[in-house]
Amino acid sequence: MTMGELLYLNGEWMPIREGHVSCEDRGFNFGDGVYEVVRVYGGQPFTMREHLERQVRSAAGLGFEIPLSVEQFEEVLRGLIERSGIEEALIYTQVTRGAAPRNHIFADDMTPTVMAFIRPAPPHPKVWRIEGAGALPCVDNRWNMCHLKTIALLPNILAKNAAHRAGFAEAFFHLEDGTVTEGSASNSYVIRGGEMWTAPLGPKILPGITRTQVMEVAREIGLTVHEETFTLTEAEDADEIIMSASNLELLPIVRLGERSIGKGKIGPVYRRLHEAYRELVRRRCGLAELVPL
Ligand SMILES: Cc1ncc(COP(=O)(O)O)c(C=O)c1O
Repeated sequence: MTMGELLYLNGEWMPIREGHVSCEDRGFNFGDGVYEVVRVYGGQPFTMREHLERQVRSAAGLGFEIPLSVEQFEEVLRGLIERSGIEEALIYTQVTRGAAPRNHIFADDMTPTVMAFIRPAPPHPKVWRIEGAGALPCVDNRWNMCHLKTIALLPNILAKNAAHRAGFAEAFFHLEDGTVTEGSASNSYVIRGGEMWTAPLGPKILPGITRTQVMEVAREIGLTVHEETFTLTEAEDADEIIMSASNLELLPIVRLGERSIGKGKIGPVYRRLHEAYRELVRRRCGLAELVPL
């Protein structure tokens, strides 16, 4: 088996390229499934339980049950780490409702397709942490169940690609009325006058696991955190903007579309927060030190 990546599919272990599922899997036909991405540091999965519990809630929101308990799924993830030997990794998990002759109506007794794979964590562009990154404002035209982490990601994908093609690291989602929601694959925060705002939980954003950690470290370092709506105009006038995701950690945004944010440079709050976040990761993973990004 090639070292460097590994797949678990419906109870079996194999190289990723050998994993096959039915062309009538509802994940393939309808995007009818849920997923998670877990970051592994020094061989230790960070916030694995939180991710797997959210996966259970996402599936429940779509009306199906994951056939593995959270504890059994944790064993699968530990198996991927141990068998692959990859220490700095991303684990992708996906559970779909399963395969059946194509029909919008689903049966209640389907057998879900369960998979998880591990790959080395891809490096981020170094420039993001040196000069900061840009985000492109995009109208958030997703649905009203964004709190479920489903594999039906087309609006996110189209926005992210539009941003990427225009030279931005992320899409910065806002509703038609200007209310900021989140990123295409991240949560967003603004800093103003030494305080932090992030969109409140609800059907318009994913309750990011990293978001919870970011708010925890923000409070630890003495920042006041508001889980309240804010607008695109307020974001444009912010001192700093930050985005977060398991894979990304924290990302400093210094450009929002054509506009510079703050002084157009990475700000002090991002630096303190990201350092505190990495310290939290190091501690929770029980590591002497983290591999630099
Ligand atoms: C739409 C969206 N929001 C937020 C996040 C961040 O979530 P987490 O911090 O749990 O990785 C993601 C991650 O993929 C996402 O896709």
